[in-house]
Amino acid sequence: MIRGLVILVLALANTWATDYNALIDDEGIYVKCSEAPAGTLGPRDVFNIDNMVMHMEPEGIYVSGNMTVKLNFLPSDRISARFSVMHYERGSWQPTMFNLHSPNFCEVMFDEDQYWFKYWFRYIRNKEEIREKCLKVKDTVLVYDEFLMVLHLENVNTSNLQGRYKAVITLEAFDEHNVRRPSSLCVEIRGDLERVT
Ligand SMILES: *[C@@H]1O[C@H](CO)[C@@H](O)[C@H](O)[C@H]1NC(C)=O
Ligand SMILES: *[C@@H]1O[C@H](CO)[C@@H](O)[C@H](O)[C@H]1NC(C)=O
Repeated sequence: MIRGLVILVLALANTWATDYNALIDDEGIYVKCSEAPAGTLGPRDVFNIDNMVMHMEPEGIYVSGNMTVKLNFLPSDRISARFSVMHYERGSWQPTMFNLHSPNFCEVMFDEDQYWFKYWFRYIRNKEEIREKCLKVKDTVLVYDEFLMVLHLENVNTSNLQGRYKAVITLEAFDEHNVRRPSSLCVEIRGDLERVT
């Protein structure tokens, strides 16, 4: 049932850190969301990930390879991205303080202060091309330099972090009149957090 290990380093006001292991479920990180509206696409509907390589090591998950955009959007479309972490409590998924919403994802994906950049897009080799096309042009290939996926969360109240979690990532497109396009992507990653120390 366990596929691998991610180290979460939680730095509390830069004074000390707590390590958590995130035990990711077997299905790995390409799971379509369980609670998404009808018609929502899964990761394999939106990207060809046959050339992505992920392998688990004690220090984290090494990611390399490339992925190809499978859908076309208009250059004027706006892509909205959300990242939310939910905690399983008393029989249902509850929101947590870990939420991120970028209404105009294409403008911020390469901002150095953004989590999107720190944990994913900084490792793209063809940044100039992706900056221009974002994720809107079919057959665009995102090429990754190999990186170690380690999540580092800062200024976290760690009293209550163990348990069952899922991270839900949603991408939606809006046309020039701000009307949501029917095809949206939702991916979720489920796992358990265990305190190491
Ligand atoms: C994507 O990955 C495949 C398999 O490793 C490789 O053959 C191909 O050259 C890569 N494409 C690009 C654009 O790097
Ligand atoms: C941390 O969370 C606990 C309960 O989860 C709460 O009682 C405490 O006040 C919180 N501490 C801070 C500094 O927010």
